[in-house]
Amino acid sequence: MKADSIALRLSAMFAVVALLVFTLIGWALYLQVDKGLGLLPEAEVDARYSVLESAVNRFGTPEHWVKINAKLKLLSEEDKRLHFWVVSDNPTYEFGNPDAEIRAFANGPLGMRDLRLSGHQFPFKVLVSQFAAKDQRPPLRFLIAIDTETFWQTQHSLLIALISLAAVGIALASLLGYWVARIGLRPLTSLSLEAQKLAPPRLSGRLQLSPLPPELNQFVTSFNSTLERVEQAYSRLESFNADVAHELRSPLTNLIGQTQVALTRGRSAEHYFEVLQSNLEELERLRSIINDMLFLASADQGSKVTELTCASLAQEVATTLDYLDFILEDAQVQVQVNGDASVPIEKAHLRRALINLLHNAVQHTGPGQVIQVDIVEHLDHVSIEVANPGNEIPQEHLPKLFERFYRVDASRSNSGANHGLGLAIVKAIALMHGGTVFVRSQAGQNTFGINLPLTLGT
Ligand SMILES: Nc1ncnc2c1ncn2[C@@H]1O[C@H](COP(=O)(O)OP(=O)(O)O)[C@@H](O)[C@H]1O
Ligand SMILES: [Mg+2]
Repeated sequence: MKADSIALRLSAMFAVVALLVFTLIGWALYLQVDKGLGLLPEAEVDARYSVLESAVNRFGTPEHWVKINAKLKLLSEEDKRLHFWVVSDNPTYEFGNPDAEIRAFANGPLGMRDLRLSGHQFPFKVLVSQFAAKDQRPPLRFLIAIDTETFWQTQHSLLIALISLAAVGIALASLLGYWVARIGLRPLTSLSLEAQKLAPPRLSGRLQLSPLPPELNQFVTSFNSTLERVEQAYSRLESFNADVAHELRSPLTNLIGQTQVALTRGRSAEHYFEVLQSNLEELERLRSIINDMLFLASADQGSKVTELTCASLAQEVATTLDYLDFILEDAQVQVQVNGDASVPIEKAHLRRALINLLHNAVQHTGPGQVIQVDIVEHLDHVSIEVANPGNEIPQEHLPKLFERFYRVDASRSNSGANHGLGLAIVKAIALMHGGTVFVRSQAGQNTFGINLPLTLGT
């Protein structure tokens, strides 16, 4: 699924925030104004009443009543929203041609009431008041009404205005938000442009930290360190191919050479036997290189130890020494084993690592000297250290000794069983057990070793 652009996502979020804010503020505003508007009709009706009350009260003769009629007429002509009705038993003292509907309403309770007239959409706000009889005048019901239509209309247009303002606000917020986000994300855009330039084979470049906002520092730092590792792996891979080819070429050259020489003329059966035997050695060397490479490849692919058993390491070392019996005898070296511990291991793998370590030690030890194997238990791991007396290895080589095909002494490289993968395999086996490897070279002792975790799965 393709992710949305950050700018689009941010502008959508701005729009949601704007929607919330505008709705909240708009709603509060609307409620406030609506409350005010609702009180307006009553206030107007009240105001009219207080002006008219004393006049109506004072006058009881038909002459005076004409004046009041004229006044009411004038008022309702001035303001079309206003309506007056006077209802009494005597038609002289009436106003506004009250029909049956109005009469019925007028005879209802006194005070402020809503009147809905048939054929009129909006209600009237009506103040119903009563005046006692005076002079010739009978008691009156006096109605002041105001049509609420304009108030409803004001309220309605306020609502429309608020909604359209909110809509414009939301649209603006998301447009501006998009624009702002684009500007804010500029460092990211330039960063990704820069990163694009770093594809292989141009791995040596790094992303620059200086012009970037601090939020991106962490990213750039880890990107650069990843790049560093990729670059190293890349160059290792390149030299690895060359090393493999080189390593395979010498046994093949030997095989072809010997076979060609043997074929130049007829040979005795004994000679063929020797040639075949020598060829077999070269073929075995080829097989061992290929086996080692296959093992490393499967370790690279993350294959882990499967059959872990808790075993005594001293026992494992002893078994390995039995296996190396002839080689030790040939080299006239002794091996001394100190200490013991039990850790979960896969025996076949660990033995392979021990063979490689001990074999190296034997190769680098002079006749009559002693190799020390120390099994030391630490807090959370056990170390197996194989130390042999020998010339100090220059410090700059130490970190690279466990790399594939790395050898201190290049001239030894073509000698028989050594093809520079021994320690790489030791390291791979240590890693498969969740452990590590180490090397020390000091005071005439060269020590190579493995740390194995005491418990499974660490
Ligand atoms: N015990 C040791 N003493 C000194 N140098 C060693 C020892 N073990 C290994 N080395 C150095 O480490 C290199 C890598 O060892 P290894 O991976 O086993 O390859 P190889 O033994 O095939 O050369 C050796 O070529 C050697 O230079
Ligand atoms: Mg070796």
